[in-house]
Amino acid sequence: MAPSNDAFLAACRGRSPSRRPIWIMRQAGRYLPEYRAVRAKTSFETLCRTPALAAEVTVQPIERFDLDAAILFSDILSIADAFGIEVRFDPGPKIERPLRTAADVAILPPADVAACAYVFEAVRACVERIGGRVPLIGFAGAPWTVASYLVEGAGTRTFRHAKVLLWSEPDAFDHLLHVLAEATAAYLEAQVRAGADAVQVFESWGGALRPDLYRARAWPHLRRVLVRALATGVPVIAFVRGGEAVLRAIADDLPEGDLVVGIDHDVAMSAAVSIVGRDRVVQGNLDPMALFAPRAVLEAEAQAVLDGACGARGHIFNLGHGISKDTDPEQVAALVDFVHRA
Ligand code: CP3
Repeated sequence: MAPSNDAFLAACRGRSPSRRPIWIMRQAGRYLPEYRAVRAKTSFETLCRTPALAAEVTVQPIERFDLDAAILFSDILSIADAFGIEVRFDPGPKIERPLRTAADVAILPPADVAACAYVFEAVRACVERIGGRVPLIGFAGAPWTVASYLVEGAGTRTFRHAKVLLWSEPDAFDHLLHVLAEATAAYLEAQVRAGADAVQVFESWGGALRPDLYRARAWPHLRRVLVRALATGVPVIAFVRGGEAVLRAIADDLPEGDLVVGIDHDVAMSAAVSIVGRDRVVQGNLDPMALFAPRAVLEAEAQAVLDGACGARGHIFNLGHGISKDTDPEQVAALVDFVHRA
């Protein structure tokens, strides 16, 4: 059934929406007291693995704010289950035996996305719980971003092990990204079959590679995921974080169709629109730190994003990256209201 609030999907498809749609990356999370109340009783892993709980926290931001989309509560590393790789969260992801060598990559079992059945069940539970109010966005991590965690074993600032594998074992690195891309495409297709109205792919660490290296070694794998996701017929959002340089490196190779280009806050929105072209729909890109500024400053920053996006085919308001856990929910309410009144 089509959601009663169609603003987000209309904008994704380049049609004129009834109002400017807004949702927020990481909108269900620790900045919400109601999320912290659930987390006080349950681990993050249990939340992700229990469809009823995942659905409960997915709708929390929808119930508190007048948002135009919900996003499935899960993690980009849930897909590690398809390879039998165990991930702990503390609070960032930790992997006991990271894939450091060509031999580690060679013994990866074939992907079995059925091991992620709890994710697809969570999509069904979310759709039911949302009750047709707003569309549901499913998501996955992009091959390079997910690989960086699998190779490093945790978050990293240097990307040392991932870069060393890329340079010294190019075949193993490409094989790893290839199998991740195939699994990710199947994983997104299953989310769409379970009822997701759109999907977003997070390339959070696109900026960790030099733009030419990103384009040559990481982007082709993400591009294949996007093409397969687009073939399901739902809009697909590609969020590649890497500033203006990475955006320029991929702009001439973006797939056609209902592809929305996610813009991070290191790029001026007006510059992003001229780089990707005025025939594209863009999403973003308020600096998450603007939510800590006085109300007048927050509104001025949000207005600059709206003005910057005015030349695009369409615009979905969002932050340029995930919301900070210390954000005041009242500021989010003010932002949502401001964007809708603009
Ligand atoms: O947007 C949403 O509300 C949906 C939920 C969502 C989570 N993670 C929940 C989460 C989404 C879309 C993600 C994606 C994700 N996970 C990304 C890509 C987006 C981005 O921000 O770049 C990445 C890189 C991860 C990996 C990951 N998971 C990290 C680095 C961390 C630690 C983050 C931190 O702030 O400490 C996690 C854990 C995580 N994922 C939490 C949440 C709500 C915090 C867990 C907790 O409740 O303790």
